[in-house]
Amino acid sequence: MRVAVTGAAGFIGSHVTDAFSAAGHEVLAVDVPGRSPTPELAWRTWAEVTARPGVVAMEADLAVADLSAVAAADVVVHLAGRPGVRDSWGAGRAVAERDNVLATRRLLAACMERPERRGPRVVVASSSSVYGSAGPRPNREDDPPSPVSPYAVSKVEVERLARVAARDGLRTVLLRYFSVYGPRQRPDMAFHRFAEAALDGRPLPVFGDGRSSRSFTHVRDVVAATLAASAEDLPPGVVINVGHAEPVTVTDAIALLTGVLGVRAEVRREAPVAGDAARTWADTDRARRLLGWTATTDLAAGLADQIAWHRTLREVRVG
Ligand SMILES: NC(=O)c1ccc[n+]([C@@H]2O[C@H](COP(=O)([O-])OP(=O)(O)OC[C@H]3O[C@@H](n4cnc5c(N)ncnc54)[C@H](O)[C@@H]3O)[C@@H](O)[C@H]2O)c1
Repeated sequence: MRVAVTGAAGFIGSHVTDAFSAAGHEVLAVDVPGRSPTPELAWRTWAEVTARPGVVAMEADLAVADLSAVAAADVVVHLAGRPGVRDSWGAGRAVAERDNVLATRRLLAACMERPERRGPRVVVASSSSVYGSAGPRPNREDDPPSPVSPYAVSKVEVERLARVAARDGLRTVLLRYFSVYGPRQRPDMAFHRFAEAALDGRPLPVFGDGRSSRSFTHVRDVVAATLAASAEDLPPGVVINVGHAEPVTVTDAIALLTGVLGVRAEVRREAPVAGDAARTWADTDRARRLLGWTATTDLAAGLADQIAWHRTLREVRVG
């Protein structure tokens, strides 16, 4: 199978590219590592993934480039975009609009214009942030969106575009990822910041009082769900939660993380972030039914994986 993965220099995209390559598929890896907010990490990841068997690199900005080569794939996994609630305020709003909405619109248009045969199956990354904060029960895919940040608004629009494309015959699937963690996690994300602070012996910077909770989901589980969605003929435009069924508070996650490290760490409280949900909580019924998938990685084991990666980053810096 010929697969195109957008955002292949990023956290989730790099693991998805690795997995398709390991399964013997031809992969067109698409990204612009130079535009990443953390270009050093992006270039390093890009070099790793594009060296894998069967992977061809395509440096292209989805907001401007000719995307016919991407649209020629059998499956497109669209993970490129500008994630993060915090950075989407102020000037970040236009960036989210460009790299999430405009990039997705252009990608879907290219897939629909494919002249020779029907368009590829397109798996599109969405986010739990479209729900806002979960109430007393897990969020189901049919719950009305309640975005509370420019990032979340951009993802609601990405979903709308993918549903319209599905009505026009494109086989799109929307995966709502919930707080993904593991090796190569983005530097702006909580566990990355906590792990680096703990390894430096600095206090852990926590936004808010630590009582917010998340359906933290290991990237290995996210890759499994994404590959399953790429392989199945699913109802066009369907939305599927990809999240761990058991939310954990930030305070409990910190206890696990410091336990794995074997350190006692101080916490430095910072003001809560506007637009951050108090709780995310995935209902996993649909993922189980349609993909045969549930997240199985336990948080302590998953954090141990991520910390092992942070240690390798340090060895590279010292070496
Ligand atoms: N990490 C999470 O917890 C999480 C949760 C929910 C949704 N998501 C979504 O999953 C996707 C991947 O997230 P991630 O954490 O791996 O992010 P990431 O920032 O690590 O990866 C995104 C990649 O997209 C690339 N990119 C951005 N704009 C581009 C453009 N115009 N053209 C080409 N490439 C471009 C970036 O260079 C980057 O390498 C995003 O769409 C994100 O919104 C992530």
